[in-house]
Amino acid sequence: MLPQFSDEFCARLADALRVVGYDADGVVAALGNQAHAALGRGEPEPARRSTAGGGPLATLIRMFLVGDAVPRAQAVAALRGVDIEEAAAAGLVRLDGDSARAGLDLRPYGDDGDDGASWWVVADLDADQAGGPVGADHVLGIGHASLSLARATVRRPVGTLLDLGTGCGVQALHASRHAGRITATDLSERCLALASATFRLNGLDVETARGSWFEPVGGRRFDQVVCNPPFVVGPPRVDYVYRDSGLAGDDASALVVRGLPGVLAPGGVGQLLASWLHRRGEDWADRVTGWLPDEGVDAWFVQRDVAEPAMYVGTWLRDAGIDPRSAEGSAKAAAWLDWFEANDVVGVGFGFVTLRATDSDTEVACEDLRHAYDDPLGPETGAWLDRVAWLRANADPARLLATEFAVPSTVVLERVSEPGADGWAELVRRLHRTDGPGWQQETDELVTALLAGCRGQVPLGDLLALLAAGHGLPADAVVHAALPVVADLVTHGMLLPKELV
Ligand SMILES: C[S@@+](CC[C@H](N)C(=O)[O-])C[C@H]1O[C@@H](n2cnc3c(N)ncnc32)[C@H](O)[C@@H]1O
Repeated sequence: MLPQFSDEFCARLADALRVVGYDADGVVAALGNQAHAALGRGEPEPARRSTAGGGPLATLIRMFLVGDAVPRAQAVAALRGVDIEEAAAAGLVRLDGDSARAGLDLRPYGDDGDDGASWWVVADLDADQAGGPVGADHVLGIGHASLSLARATVRRPVGTLLDLGTGCGVQALHASRHAGRITATDLSERCLALASATFRLNGLDVETARGSWFEPVGGRRFDQVVCNPPFVVGPPRVDYVYRDSGLAGDDASALVVRGLPGVLAPGGVGQLLASWLHRRGEDWADRVTGWLPDEGVDAWFVQRDVAEPAMYVGTWLRDAGIDPRSAEGSAKAAAWLDWFEANDVVGVGFGFVTLRATDSDTEVACEDLRHAYDDPLGPETGAWLDRVAWLRANADPARLLATEFAVPSTVVLERVSEPGADGWAELVRRLHRTDGPGWQQETDELVTALLAGCRGQVPLGDLLALLAAGHGLPADAVVHAALPVVADLVTHGMLLPKELV
């Protein structure tokens, strides 16, 4: 049954939820931090204890977050103003005699980064809540991938934004804070029904359109595009529409990357999660660069992880609730691993892609970001786009040499030495950004000396002249060697022109 939430039903439901304080802060306050964290780990018992005192908020938590059946009378009292039969007809609750339980996952969702915003999100019950395997058209709730894309998204005011493959609508919710007009598309009718319920409940006016990939928005251009596509890599099949594209290998990611320039307005930015194959004898960076046109984009591929085939297959089988030891699990794993072998796949890379539409030659940067970091990547992505644009506008060596650069206060210099016959012998000298992605870069004595002078007061050309004189080196050679190093440090945010500090 396709859930149907009318405008009027959503308005009454939102009122009911508001009245009892079923919002992001209210739920944490009712449960306490420990029970809330336990619930997030799939451990419901502490939440049952925290809500033992009863009351409308406790009832909603038990019903929608813990997944328990509650007495029908309590559900009616907690959803005051909402006809429980209508809620059942809409698919929101399931009635069984005198008890009621969730028919859909309805949860408050807030994000610290969005000024304490609290929304409600409607999705399908997961396998644990539903007590059985999910359907092929399962509408995924907010998962790790959704959150990581939300944290990596640039949040600057834009006119139009496309959320491609909206699912339960989570990316569009975040976008509502900075985009004037949002369009959300999906292949799945069920996703659009639940995303529409999410948007209505939150009083958001989001245009929805059904269809595959870019087809529903053909011919239109957007200032920003976000996409968490079904990026699971393997043989071409669709077990679950939320994760399988029906395309072989990494073709889904390639399709979105290839299609983005065609829907981005000039200067527009597209961001997606993506997977790419690591094939024997092929560099992953060459592979993803091959998805881009020669002109018209700045592209940043950030690889967060690489999984070897066996680990990858096991992880995604378990994600679908399939025991790798079962007959079904063995058959699926065999077909999957055969496909990897036949296609020379030695690993699967996963990460973030950012594209900006430009009127210049394509610039591509591929980075490994496999170490742990805490800061959200969104502000760093925006800053990366600014730095790349600045370097393009100041590519002329004369302009670079006239620029006063500064080392940000978050950059530190590490020196590692070992004891030797003549005292400490330096092994490595490394620049380390202590913020954002935590980039590290080995460096040498000359660059260290140059950076010591970069305090936003003396033009680069003067500093290089002093350095050349101090070390008895030809000035031209020092400039020639320094300019690419400076550009690389700027790209990584370890050295900034005064106006970007
Ligand atoms: C991984 S989910 C992402 C959902 C949500 N945007 C998020 O961030 O959690 C992928 C979404 O893409 C949709 N999808 C699958 N194939 C598609 C296609 N060919 N065109 C458009 N959307 C598709 C699925 O229905 C699903 O909603």
